[in-house]
Amino acid sequence: MFKLSRKSFNLALCLAWVCLTIMTGQTTSIEIVGDEVIQVVENGTEEYLVLDCPYELSDQDKTSLVIKWYHTNNPVNVYQWIHGNKPQAIGILEDRLDLEYVAKDEEYHRHRALYVIKPTTELSGEYTCSVSSFEDEKTYIQKLIVYSKPSEVSVWTDKREEDTVTVICKVDGIYPEPELMLHIASDSDNKTILAGAKEVKTWSHGSYMATIELEIDEDDLDGPVEFVCEVAIPDTDLVFPNATKYEPMMSGVPRTYSTSATILGLAALLLCLL
Ligand SMILES: *[C@@H]1O[C@H](CO)[C@@H](O)[C@H](O)[C@H]1NC(C)=O
Ligand SMILES: *[C@@H]1O[C@H](CO)[C@@H](O)[C@H](O)[C@H]1NC(C)=O
Ligand SMILES: *[C@@H]1O[C@H](CO)[C@@H](O)[C@H](O)[C@H]1NC(C)=O
Repeated sequence: MFKLSRKSFNLALCLAWVCLTIMTGQTTSIEIVGDEVIQVVENGTEEYLVLDCPYELSDQDKTSLVIKWYHTNNPVNVYQWIHGNKPQAIGILEDRLDLEYVAKDEEYHRHRALYVIKPTTELSGEYTCSVSSFEDEKTYIQKLIVYSKPSEVSVWTDKREEDTVTVICKVDGIYPEPELMLHIASDSDNKTILAGAKEVKTWSHGSYMATIELEIDEDDLDGPVEFVCEVAIPDTDLVFPNATKYEPMMSGVPRTYSTSATILGLAALLLCLL
């Protein structure tokens, strides 16, 4: 009796194992089939752009497929397509998508992508696509940068102290937050990057204004130079430069000397007049 039940138990265990193997063998689960990408477009210049979410499904996943898209740190999804229902745009994507767009003319892929009409800066960010079924869930990230060119990049010098010169660079109307760099132009490819600059950035009306300034010792400059300011948008190749020329005071003739010489001259002139 005991022997028999043990035997049937083993048989059941064996069957279960075989079943499981066959089942898991069939279940290839959800698979994302694309590389993560960064899309960079200029504000107000594109009619549309597509954020796709390429995947492969197993048969089990097809019974309960849900596609959701999330934007940056928002825990609430901005898009949802429950297979069998109409897709929906939510929050920042409301009225910004063509919901009729067909990403791929296959039943389980039709509404997986976001078709963004006239993308603008505020839609920039990290988009995460979540593909889920009762069996599995996979996510896929795409980064979107909708940039705005600066309305102004100015660089100039200001003589605030006798033995130093201050280089100032200002950028306005740019999006997203830029990186500013000052350097001295040279004939070789080597740039003398000027480190330690003070930087101020402010945000208003959907864009950034930033200034950077650095005080440089006149003694560190030998001859006329060109100060270059480069305003860059991180994660892109976009750089907006401008430059200003500067001629340091004659080396070897301290300004104090020439000033006192002028004063002496003036005094002499005054004395003569008297
Ligand atoms: C982006 O474009 C929109 C529409 O063309 C415009 O209203 C908005 O001011 C632009 N944003 C920036 C930061 O330039
Ligand atoms: C470069 O800077 C100068 C002086 O500040 C300014 O007049 C000029 O418009 C700037 N050029 C660009 C392309 O921003
Ligand atoms: C440029 O930089 C490289 C590496 O830092 C250095 O070997 C080279 O001598 C520099 N060239 C000039 C002209 O300063």
